[in-house]
Amino acid sequence: MKVLLINGSPHAKGCTYTALNEVAGGLERHGIQTEILHIGTQPMAGCIACRRCRETGLCVYDDLVNATLGRIHDFDGLVIGSPVYYAGPNGQLLSFLDRLFYAGSRHMAGKPGASVVSCRRGGATAAFDRLNKYFTIANMPVVPSRYWNQVHGNQPEEVLQDAEGLQIMRTLAENMAWLLKCIEAGRQSGVPEPVYEPRVNTNFIR
Ligand SMILES: Cc1cc2nc3c(=O)[nH]c(=O)nc-3n(C[C@H](O)[C@H](O)[C@H](O)COP(=O)(O)O)c2cc1C
Repeated sequence: MKVLLINGSPHAKGCTYTALNEVAGGLERHGIQTEILHIGTQPMAGCIACRRCRETGLCVYDDLVNATLGRIHDFDGLVIGSPVYYAGPNGQLLSFLDRLFYAGSRHMAGKPGASVVSCRRGGATAAFDRLNKYFTIANMPVVPSRYWNQVHGNQPEEVLQDAEGLQIMRTLAENMAWLLKCIEAGRQSGVPEPVYEPRVNTNFIR
């Protein structure tokens, strides 16, 4: 089993990474492989709503989004990490996720998902809520912890002093490991996967 942890911060080894690393350590202790993917600091294109991905399954911008889509079947679970920018996830990460999920959400179904956020002081729950929206529109079970998944700090050293925040990350890892093992056990004992109806789209037009 393997979990992909996406670090949306421009800082490869900053506060968000420190939180994700704590989750990864907890998963590894359960024998679950992890990979932390840093989305980098280059400009990230946003979704231009061309809908070409509906035909091809890939984004017209052939960048890290398509590279990640190409490997999505290698992962059994997903953790998204973001710094809090003006009480939301950072813009570059949202551009990445909009395109990743618009092109590939059908491949995400059934994979447990969790988000973690890092803030200096405030706005964490608004950012956390926004990230969880990607999972709940994509048939992904959302993994909980014993608090909302946030750490506090402006520098990684400060996050390392946030004992409660780090414990929340380890508890999240416990829950994700448990859920992944339950899903695997269910598969092996023949529990059928959900069968979805053909999609109905109802637009509200007056
Ligand atoms: C543009 C910008 C906006 C920010 N907005 C907030 C905010 O609304 N609330 C907050 O507590 N911290 C805010 N911060 C601080 C970061 O969220 C915080 O330092 C975070 O832990 C950095 O994580 P990183 O090291 O992974 O990038 C902001 C930082 C930047 C650069």
